[in-house]
Amino acid sequence: MPDFVKRYYEIQSPKLQGKAALKIALLADLHGAVYGHRQDRLLQAIEAEDCDLVLAAGDMILRIRENSFTAAKDLLIPLSKQVPVCYGLGNHEEVFLYDDQPGGEAEAFSVLQHSVYRRKRLPPKEHHLIEDYRTFESALEEAGVILLKNQRVRKSFHSVMVDICGLRVPYSCYHKPFPFGLHASDIELLCGSANQEAFQILIAHSPYFAPAYFTWQADLTVSGHYHGGILRLGKRRGLVSPYLHPFPSYCVGDFHRGDSHLVVSAGLGEHTLPVRLFNPHELVFITVKNPEEA
Ligand SMILES: [Fe+2]
Repeated sequence: MPDFVKRYYEIQSPKLQGKAALKIALLADLHGAVYGHRQDRLLQAIEAEDCDLVLAAGDMILRIRENSFTAAKDLLIPLSKQVPVCYGLGNHEEVFLYDDQPGGEAEAFSVLQHSVYRRKRLPPKEHHLIEDYRTFESALEEAGVILLKNQRVRKSFHSVMVDICGLRVPYSCYHKPFPFGLHASDIELLCGSANQEAFQILIAHSPYFAPAYFTWQADLTVSGHYHGGILRLGKRRGLVSPYLHPFPSYCVGDFHRGDSHLVVSAGLGEHTLPVRLFNPHELVFITVKNPEEA
């Protein structure tokens, strides 16, 4: 049975007033992992923290395993009965959004000025999963999970206005070893501008584009994708990224540029290479406070 650690981060933002604090649970890269009966160990750990909001930073499924859809639903649906759950997509979700479907790549990224999408073709033996993925999304949305595909939602917590944006990027942004470059101007085209009045959260699966997230001026970006670098070499360092880059920047942990923060989770699961060294699965909690109250 897999195990996990709880990892806590505190960040400061002048957009939070007085003693108000925003507590967030961050889930990433579940990839079909199951923690207890119907995820009860994860659910209990999250409930014990009394969070305001749950963010899922993508790859909550494993594209080649149908039962990974159940593992994700067992986690996200019960949580959505208690607190808002916002879900941004990773590469394992994006692969099912073909460009000939409504909402597929061609439609989703037509606003970009350059041709950035090169479709990831699913092998024919996996085509039946496309319908399963659609059913999975529908079940989540019916249960109240907020899927954000270059969309945003505004919520108020303890009189703090929070704008949550889920970034969806073309599959070519996940290509190894040279992903397509994504800039703040592209995020602007896909999602609009960062909200200057509200506390702006950006759910963005890959931390590779961290400089763009900072330039876009997200107050807090949450990411995953790197699985802690397989071999973790410290609080923020890991051995290798899924792009096959050694010692990647923004591998895991917390980073910032001015008031713009990034938290990268080491994730709750893995796939192709099921190895982790000094790199346990993580359930991440982030508390946001006013600098004077920190
Ligand atoms: Fe990923």
